[in-house]
Amino acid sequence: MKKADIGVIGMEVMGRSLALNMESKGYTVAVYNRTGEKTKAFAEGPAKGKNIIPTYEIKDFVEALESPKKIMLMVKEGAPVDAFIETLLPFLKHGDLIIDGGNSFFKDTIRRNKYLSEKGILFIGTGVSGGEEGALKGPAIMPGGQKEAYKLIEKIFKDISAKAYDGEPCVDYMGPDGAGHFVKTIHNGIEYGDMQLIGEVVWFLKNTGMRADKIADIMARWNDKNDILCSYLIEITADSMKQKHQGSDEFLVDRVADITRMKGTGTWTVQSALELLVPIPTIAAAVFSREMSQDKNLRLEMSKKISLTFNGFANNPEEIIDVAHDALYIAKISSYAQGIALLTAASSAYNFNLNIGKIAKIWRAGCIIRAQFLDEITRAYEANPDLPNLLAAPKFAAFVSSNIGKLARFIDMAHKCGVPTLAMSSAFDYILQITSAVMPSAQVSALQRDYFGAHGYFKINSDSPELMVNNEGKIREFHTEWLLPTRPEREITR
Ligand code: 6PG
Repeated sequence: MKKADIGVIGMEVMGRSLALNMESKGYTVAVYNRTGEKTKAFAEGPAKGKNIIPTYEIKDFVEALESPKKIMLMVKEGAPVDAFIETLLPFLKHGDLIIDGGNSFFKDTIRRNKYLSEKGILFIGTGVSGGEEGALKGPAIMPGGQKEAYKLIEKIFKDISAKAYDGEPCVDYMGPDGAGHFVKTIHNGIEYGDMQLIGEVVWFLKNTGMRADKIADIMARWNDKNDILCSYLIEITADSMKQKHQGSDEFLVDRVADITRMKGTGTWTVQSALELLVPIPTIAAAVFSREMSQDKNLRLEMSKKISLTFNGFANNPEEIIDVAHDALYIAKISSYAQGIALLTAASSAYNFNLNIGKIAKIWRAGCIIRAQFLDEITRAYEANPDLPNLLAAPKFAAFVSSNIGKLARFIDMAHKCGVPTLAMSSAFDYILQITSAVMPSAQVSALQRDYFGAHGYFKINSDSPELMVNNEGKIREFHTEWLLPTRPEREITR
């Protein structure tokens, strides 16, 4: 019997769909699941008559594979990945490859890569985005690990991946060890940001008196292929908002509870940002908003304790739609700027050597955040790989400078009708902060720290907001003796 080109472990929806995708591209795929019933149901169902070899013992699974053996784990992140690695190890030889295609924590991937490479086993940790349909028809794939490991899987990944409109496969080598899973984590953080921003815009439109089907029409217009907002998430917002609640005339969206759960990648994004000292307030706002959404009982109780009244504003639907559109676009640029800043910082901290243009390119199709906008990001980084921030790219900078007032107006209108805008507001303030040569509150707190803790402060020149430096270009540091009656200032030398 012909040996399998690749094996997939884990017969939940993503594993099954990927196996079918691989088979449809001409590969023979061995499959295995911890509980045999799922493998059997798959073999007798969607895999019937296909070049898919069901196996029920790990030994048979590994023996069914061509060498070097390529094994893709599509199991829950965490302990199950480590358990399968241990189960597989006795059956593997030098040069065989294990691929973890789940949403694993990138530091686990770094650890596993090291552990396995000490045993001569190659390891790839890869992001696979696009949900069930993507896995089946073409996901975006973000692999990280040894270069030679990627070479072993490159052709299969290119064949099964989504293709962008120019035919380019949505997969590329991201970097060593944890790079692929890190990029996927940030993809998800950005996904949270996008979803929250769209959610705030939709809720605002709803609060100006629009029905769900009207909002769906607006979203459908924004998804026009020439519109700057055109994206998968806008598309599915339009589609899902038209859906009626079964057996009634109500819209499903009006009956779905305002509770958004999460599996953890957004939280990892924020944790990583805290660790690397990179501000990502919009993505954090998206995570915090999900947390607040889950506190339904508290919100119900608090809504009875404090009743806030808002006077609304003069409602002009044309203006509202125009403002909401451009405000959403600016907020999206701001949120992506934050996510990319985090990717850039992690790239140096973990030696991932990430290429932002390349990442934006593989996000153009297949994945959840796919959007035309990503083409513009690729172009911006191709034109200048050393952009200090996405907002500095000339096209984005021009749009933001001309239209920032619309984001301010959106936030103002939303607040006037009591709509919270944690993500939109933080996207706005991120732009304000990053473009502020001087942040007054920071100056004040610098003095406070020096006052109560003698922690020192820096100074700016009297005629420019630049930092005061000495002859050698070193930043000068000062301390005021606050407790002495004359409060003398002295320079600190460290
Ligand atoms: C993707 C998605 C996928 C999944 C998220 C959902 O890229 O295909 O991001 O990974 O839908 O894990 O995450 P939450 O459950 O945290 O919303």
